[in-house]
Amino acid sequence: MKNMKGQYCIVTGAGKGIGKAIAKRFLEEEAAGVAIFEWDLALAEAAAKELDPTGKKVIAFKCNVADSDMVKAAVDATVEAFGRVDVLVNNAGVTRDRIFHKMTDDEWHTVININLNGMYNLCKFVVPLMREQEFGSIVNISSTSLMGNPGQANYSATKAAMQGFTRTMAKELGRKNVRMNCVAPGYIDTDMMRAVGEDKFNAAVARHPMNRMASPDELAAIVAFLCTEDSSWVTGQTIVASGGALCL
Ligand SMILES: NC(=O)c1ccc[n+]([C@@H]2O[C@H](COP(=O)([O-])OP(=O)(O)OC[C@H]3O[C@@H](n4cnc5c(N)ncnc54)[C@H](O)[C@@H]3O)[C@@H](O)[C@H]2O)c1
Repeated sequence: MKNMKGQYCIVTGAGKGIGKAIAKRFLEEEAAGVAIFEWDLALAEAAAKELDPTGKKVIAFKCNVADSDMVKAAVDATVEAFGRVDVLVNNAGVTRDRIFHKMTDDEWHTVININLNGMYNLCKFVVPLMREQEFGSIVNISSTSLMGNPGQANYSATKAAMQGFTRTMAKELGRKNVRMNCVAPGYIDTDMMRAVGEDKFNAAVARHPMNRMASPDELAAIVAFLCTEDSSWVTGQTIVASGGALCL
């Protein structure tokens, strides 16, 4: 695979889980720099130190993606440090699962504000930079929940909306040599998935044709592909990575 030599990247929610694995993979692909945007600064700083003990390539910012002012400040600081942004991964996401008739307004709005408006906030400040430099790749981490999943009306709505946004943006940005794609994971073995409890976790494993969870590294490999020139003709797409659980 072609690598990411010279590319400067932002990965949101990269303090742990899938985002951290993506940041790690980007460094393995020789990315020039990775900025971690994470609302838990201690987590972000620990990840940065672990991934890049030299402290030269990875920088950590405290940033709640739902807060437009914080996003703008972190994007400005990234540009000041790196000079440009070639890759954006909108990975930060949360669940607040509950059957719809019992779901609170807070559960609804928290998920919409982080998963959907967070992606909007990042794109608002990064897309103009990529248009100007006529180069960039944006990857949005969706979910197979977009097909519908009881208890996830809020989450599923955001993950499906990401796809429509991605298709429109791909069509708007194509002539500027900026690509946007989604990855829709099935179950990945992270804290988010473990939080459902052991019984539900094991039941989810059993529903997968490959009879296991994926590791975050398996997701990171797909995201890296979408950020190299090997995928230069791929934009507006969703790659479903679910071990065969969802076949479109
Ligand atoms: N784990 C799975 O099975 C799975 C499946 C499908 C999709 N996804 C998606 O993948 C992405 C990553 O999931 P994960 O499993 O690694 O989750 P995780 O909970 O392990 O990690 C999420 C990270 O995002 C950070 N974060 C959360 N809200 C934030 C905010 N407002 N601003 C900045 N950072 C924030 C958290 O601090 C954490 O570091 C999410 O968008 C999730 O919806 C996960």
